[in-house]
Amino acid sequence: MNNNRYFYITPKISYGEESLSSLKNFGFTKVCIATDKFMIESKLINKVTNILDENNIDYHIFDEITPDPSTEVIQTGLSHIVNLKPNALIAVGGGSVIDAAKAIMYFCIQLKKNFIEENKIDKPYFIAIPTTAGTGSEVTNFSVITDSKNKTKIPLVDDIMLPDEAILDPILTITVPPNVTSFTAMDVLTHAIESYISINQNIFSQMYALKAIKLISSNLLKCYHNLGNLEYRNNLQIASCMAGISFNSAGLGITHSISHSLGSAFHLPHGLCNAIVLPYIIEFNGNDMNTCKKYINILDAMGAYNVELEKAPIILKSIILELNRKLNIPLNLKALNINKNEFESITKTLAIIAYKDICTSTNPVKVTVNDLESLIKSLY
Ligand SMILES: [Fe+2]
Repeated sequence: MNNNRYFYITPKISYGEESLSSLKNFGFTKVCIATDKFMIESKLINKVTNILDENNIDYHIFDEITPDPSTEVIQTGLSHIVNLKPNALIAVGGGSVIDAAKAIMYFCIQLKKNFIEENKIDKPYFIAIPTTAGTGSEVTNFSVITDSKNKTKIPLVDDIMLPDEAILDPILTITVPPNVTSFTAMDVLTHAIESYISINQNIFSQMYALKAIKLISSNLLKCYHNLGNLEYRNNLQIASCMAGISFNSAGLGITHSISHSLGSAFHLPHGLCNAIVLPYIIEFNGNDMNTCKKYINILDAMGAYNVELEKAPIILKSIILELNRKLNIPLNLKALNINKNEFESITKTLAIIAYKDICTSTNPVKVTVNDLESLIKSLY
């Protein structure tokens, strides 16, 4: 048996209040900013461009990135890089923007390697600046883009997509509304819990996951009630990044598999789906004794000490349900006004899609399509 295991972290991370100021002396003269229309209209982008202006750094803005970025958006973005030849690409936005920029980097490097003369294009230095505390996309090596012709998702996995630098400045998340704050933070909590119990967990990934759980537990509700507090925002952003580092190494589980299928069928926000699904999966995975032992550590990180092993799944489930209640998150799909007949007619299809999802392979308990279907039915 090969016991040789590895764990690595990329990128360099600047974090905390005013960390955006690290752009002042980053040494690049020609920059392409990848972002979306919202960042322009809300003028949030000015927090980045003001620093570039003050330091006479030349920049061009590509603002055509849309949610669930399509292959067409990536192609357009790539043409901006090829024509402009910037020495740095700065992605400023939520998960979709950073995912799109990662895909642009991926195809830029493919182009350089395979199609055009090496010296015709340089790999730009890649900086990710997240504006939500949720996906952890700034520290993960994968991206999902949508094939615009047949509407299928194309997952890309490659270390070349990892940014060279991530900047986590809480000032950029300060205007995120309450529901998006809670959905994205519940996504973070799901990343941390699923990676902590994943079959690919390791001593490093678990350390990051536990710290992320601790940070979410002690800051989420406070932040939800004090949205303008930079300290809470900062802690949620660090939790998101740490949970990203953890699941980039350990993988996720069937909460994500089910959320992915539900999210695309009913056009629901990813974090909202995870928040609803997570308590039920905690109970299901709790049938495994090893997972129960891990729940004790998770409960500890949440401040619930001395819980008996057999009671761990049900107590962890009830803590998540209570958290959802306090965040005004619906506890089931019925509360989202999803039509019952429509839902029942597609539970099998949803289960098949969830079964094939990459996250299913790292769930601590092996599942069948039937298991997934009964879990999905129980969510209504
Ligand atoms: Fe997620």
